[in-house]
Amino acid sequence: MTSPATAPAPGADGGYHIAKVVQLAVVAALGGFLFGFDTSVINGAVDPLADEFGLGSGMTGFTVSSALLGCMAGAYLAGRLADRIGRIRVMVLASGFFTISAIGSGLAFGAWDMIFWRVLGGLGVGAASVIAPAYIAEISPAPIRGRMGSLQQLAIVIGIFVALLSDFALAAAAGGAAEELWFGLAAWRWMFIAEAIPAVAYGVLALTIPESPRFLIRQGDERTAREVLSEVLTTGIDTRIKEIKRTIAADRRSSFADLKKPGGGLLPIVWIGVALSVFQQFVGINVIFYYSTTLWQAVGISEDEALQRTVITSVTNIVVTVVAIALIDKIGRRLLLLIGSAGMTVSLGIMAWVFSQADIVVNSAGESVPVLSDSAAMTALVAANAFVVFFGASWGPAVWVLLGEMFNNTIRSLAIGIAAAAQWLANFAISTSFPSMADIGLWFAYGFYTFFALLSFFFVMRFVPETKGKELEDMQ
Ligand code: GLC
Repeated sequence: MTSPATAPAPGADGGYHIAKVVQLAVVAALGGFLFGFDTSVINGAVDPLADEFGLGSGMTGFTVSSALLGCMAGAYLAGRLADRIGRIRVMVLASGFFTISAIGSGLAFGAWDMIFWRVLGGLGVGAASVIAPAYIAEISPAPIRGRMGSLQQLAIVIGIFVALLSDFALAAAAGGAAEELWFGLAAWRWMFIAEAIPAVAYGVLALTIPESPRFLIRQGDERTAREVLSEVLTTGIDTRIKEIKRTIAADRRSSFADLKKPGGGLLPIVWIGVALSVFQQFVGINVIFYYSTTLWQAVGISEDEALQRTVITSVTNIVVTVVAIALIDKIGRRLLLLIGSAGMTVSLGIMAWVFSQADIVVNSAGESVPVLSDSAAMTALVAANAFVVFFGASWGPAVWVLLGEMFNNTIRSLAIGIAAAAQWLANFAISTSFPSMADIGLWFAYGFYTFFALLSFFFVMRFVPETKGKELEDMQ
């Protein structure tokens, strides 16, 4: 017997060609791979490039975080552009930005030049972060839409991991990140240039997949939309076309007016998207990925061991995304988020507590630094990985899935652009504030993230709608 909780919602697509759907989703998710790669490639390059350009800590920090501002702009603009030029062209454009930025950053001759190329790459990351979930939601049959959408997060975390490996391998091949590798260029420069390979592949593959049927119908091209739908669905194509047409005013672009509610102000659903984004960042996930070495060294762990810990957390993140893929269409987005919030609150709370117990010792440079006992350091490592497990199995993928599917056809690209831009801004705020918060104490930073994890639980309970199994045409 099927329980009501697992039965497909009324109107959900029946048969579909799974291999085709997976193929389209994987190509779109390559944008996620570049998102992950681009945001973490800087890790291995930052010290040698700061040395070579003679940067102080403020300017180094800005060189790293400036890309996130590009991401914000890219997300917002891509949302708008996707309705004008289509989803595929936005992917190709993003691929172009990634490619140019990879080569430009690798050949940069100074800080501002570098910042320019990083911001350009950020435009690509921001665009990819919006277009992958939107496209995947639009081509996936309702019963498997969560799983397909989660492929983007899988690609993001694999991208983070591959960048880490590639940075490590290039530095090892040259005998140090600052050492010359090929053609007189130092290894750190090749770390950026390496990104051009997946970037070009993404653009070329994007040209092999069809445009989204929702976009095509909006453009008035029902014939092609029907062809695309019949590639992915085995039944119910007519109904689907009728439904899409019902929810889309053909030949009309969405505008800000569509995002307003009758009494003025943004539609509640747009605020929910923005809040989901902000919570996803305010639990401090990227502190683990962008600052792991600093984080672990701050509590007396050696540099080599800190790198090891970073590798462990990245692999953990990949493995648990698979768990999310298995669960998201079964137990739904809401329950997944609630479990994630609860687990993150406990694990972050433990980290805050452990850090508050650190002994303050004076190091050889005369600075007071916190040091953890062996057992406390072990507890912190376990708690940090438990946090990554809970995040990676819930908020990591589920927020991107929800952003792709929770908005109706009229406002989708605009609204997801705004929500994703908010996410990049929140990411920027957390990653630039971490060093100052850590100066007050790691317990303080982690107390702050714990608070937001707890708050996110109540937010989901109160505001987040379940979208599992529903057709995009049935979203409010
Ligand atoms: C999500 C977040 C991203 C983070 C990643 C790590 O995709 O949006 O900021 O880096 O998860 O797993």
